[in-house]
Amino acid sequence: MRSSTILAAIAAAGSAMAQRPADMPICDYYTTALLKNNTAANQYTLLTLLVNTAVIGNYTKPNVGIAVTGILNKGTYKGEEVNLLPYFTGELDSTNFNGKAIAVNFLDGGGAAPLMLNMPANNSSSIQYGLITHLYQFFGALLGCSEYGAMGFPSYKGKTSMGDVHRFMDLDASEVGYFIMQVGLSAASFGVTDDDVTAVGTALTKLFDYKCAPPVAILPNSTAELQSICQAEDCPLAPNATCAAYPLMGMPTSPANASVTMMPTGTMMPSATSSTASMFTGAAQAIGAGVGSVAAAGLFALALAL
Ligand code: HEM
Ligand SMILES: *[C@@H]1O[C@H](CO)[C@@H](O)[C@H](O)[C@H]1NC(C)=O
Ligand SMILES: *[C@@H]1O[C@H](CO)[C@@H](O)[C@H](O)[C@H]1NC(C)=O
Ligand SMILES: *[C@@H]1O[C@H](CO)[C@@H](O)[C@H](O)[C@H]1NC(C)=O
Ligand SMILES: *[C@@H]1O[C@H](CO)[C@@H](O)[C@H](O)[C@H]1NC(C)=O
Ligand SMILES: *[C@@H]1O[C@H](CO)[C@@H](O)[C@H](O)[C@H]1NC(C)=O
Ligand SMILES: *[C@@H]1O[C@H](CO)[C@@H](O)[C@H](O)[C@H]1NC(C)=O
Ligand SMILES: *[C@@H]1O[C@H](CO)[C@@H](O)[C@H](O)[C@H]1NC(C)=O
Repeated sequence: MRSSTILAAIAAAGSAMAQRPADMPICDYYTTALLKNNTAANQYTLLTLLVNTAVIGNYTKPNVGIAVTGILNKGTYKGEEVNLLPYFTGELDSTNFNGKAIAVNFLDGGGAAPLMLNMPANNSSSIQYGLITHLYQFFGALLGCSEYGAMGFPSYKGKTSMGDVHRFMDLDASEVGYFIMQVGLSAASFGVTDDDVTAVGTALTKLFDYKCAPPVAILPNSTAELQSICQAEDCPLAPNATCAAYPLMGMPTSPANASVTMMPTGTMMPSATSSTASMFTGAAQAIGAGVGSVAAAGLFALALAL
């Protein structure tokens, strides 16, 4: 969909959003509200708008009057100054490459400029393209997109253990809290209701913003893995904490202990599987048990189940 069409649709939707039916995933409901047809392509566009705005701050006009600072911009969280940019520029040796901490520039695809054009990067071979499209896919699964994995909405192609991905970043409670807040503000800026923003924020907080959480499967068809993103000392301890499973907590380790990870390749093939709508209708799995897939019911059901 062209940018002007997207923005016209959003303008038409206005700021007054009705109550979402409990049995409709957040993704499908707001795709319909903002972009009309609930297609895979429109769901992917919704995730593009949501993620791009969370990453660079609000850039679409109009929005409903809520400013989003953006993950790449300096901001504050509960009075603490936060600056996440150095993790993305290659300034820090914070990327987990085969168990080694290395520096990677994740903004090699034009940085913010292409995001403002509703694109992930200026070049599909860039590392930026890989990261940003992975975020569309990952958050699309979390928000219960019924067309996730169908033609037009590729399933997640990144690493499935968020604990591994963020292992060397030693992220603290303010940093992860700020990231989650930007995602929530981005949603709010498109008219997502307070109830739905709160549900998403609560679920993201419980999944990622505690240290030492036991393994859990988040995405459809995935197995239980470590998912704590908050791994610094000041992070609150998860229920049933298994800190021994996170031996690093920001410290370097021998590659033998770290699980094998891949550099972001930037390549992403749209997968041509059939619609997975039915998989999202089940009840949330028992996440403490480390079985099943949390995203199977969408984040809203997850927030209620936790
Ligand atoms: C709720 C919180 C968060 C979620 C759900 C999340 C999710 C993700 C996902 C899905 C990826 C893609 C992994 C891949 O492509 O294999 C990723 C990568 C990344 N995230 Fe996060 N993230 C969160 C918080 C943060 C925070 C607070 C930072 C701080 C700077 C951060 C920095 C990064 C970086 C630098 C990468 C690229 C790492 C790589 O590809 O190896 N994330 N994140
Ligand atoms: C919605 O889908 C119908 C049927 O596929 C099509 O005719 C119509 O143009 C679409 N509308 C939009 C806004 O995409
Ligand atoms: C971001 O949103 C705020 C609040 O609606 C608005 O004042 C500002 O102009 C927006 N910024 C951009 C770049 O659209
Ligand atoms: C994309 O942006 C990078 C800078 O991040 C620049 O070096 C490169 O030339 C740009 N590529 C295209 C195709 O515009
Ligand atoms: C796209 O990015 C890749 C990886 O950085 C680079 O090798 C290639 O030259 C870029 N292509 C263009 C057209 O900018
Ligand atoms: C999950 O696995 C089933 C059975 O292998 C497959 O049909 C389905 O397409 C997969 N779903 C996704 C989203 O990858
Ligand atoms: C690495 O693995 C070995 C063998 O499993 C174990 O003895 C050692 O404690 C581990 N080291 C760390 C830092 O977890
Ligand atoms: C903690 O573990 C117990 C026993 O395995 C389990 O019954 C409970 O649901 C778990 N709680 C959470 C929050 O994971």
